Amino acid sequence: MLDIDGHYRYIRKLADRDLTSIALWDEDEEVTILSGKKFGQGSVIDSVWWQDLMTSSVRIGFAIQTPGGVLIGDAELEHIAWRNAEAELRISIGNKHYWSRGYGSAAIREVLHVAYERIGLQRVYLRVKRDNFRAIRAYEKAGFKKVAVLCATGRLAGETELVLMESLGHQYWTLRA
Ligand SMILES: CC(C)(COP(=O)(O)OP(=O)(O)OC[C@H]1O[C@@H](n2cnc3c(N)ncnc32)[C@H](O)[C@@H]1OP(=O)(O)O)[C@@H](O)C(=O)NCCC(=O)NCCS
Repeated sequence: MLDIDGHYRYIRKLADRDLTSIALWDEDEEVTILSGKKFGQGSVIDSVWWQDLMTSSVRIGFAIQTPGGVLIGDAELEHIAWRNAEAELRISIGNKHYWSRGYGSAAIREVLHVAYERIGLQRVYLRVKRDNFRAIRAYEKAGFKKVAVLCATGRLAGETELVLMESLGHQYWTLRA
């Protein structure tokens, strides 16, 4: 298990105790319309989302917190392709009180630190609704660049277009140098 606790200000390891808040945010349509739902009916601890996250070798979950330790959201490196050294980023600040206060981009920067400096990835990409301007701005602040516009599939098919954005490890290292 990757140990990130104590190394970062805005992210830490997700724990069972976080599920109550995450489940509450999962009921908020203003949040889930942007980031999707995690849970169906039944116990959240037994949910496919949580059980798979806890056991998967291609997903790493993070709690997002304030520097004072208040849980405000969660993020994930998912679809980790170890051989290609790339993964997809998903993020949701479920507590809307904390939107647009810099926490999202700060957490993303720390997730990228994990990706590039702790687990050896070389590319992190994401897909975001074309009109989710706050998210796009947060991603750009963390160094992501727009690379394509895609037709949405799955739950969003026909509803919207998605912007594909990416962060490249070698650019990340150059920016830090
Ligand atoms: C997307 C999300 C993670 C971003 O985190 P955040 O903490 O709100 O983002 P930040 O404060 O770091 O950056 C947001 C930026 O967008 C700006 N912004 C806010 N609303 C905006 C709008 N309508 N148009 C353009 N920019 C906007 C903010 O002013 C800020 O930029 P600034 O720092 O230059 O002023 C968070 O808002 C969230 O979880 N939203 C709901 C779920 C979601 O959209 N998830 C992403 C799905 S792909």
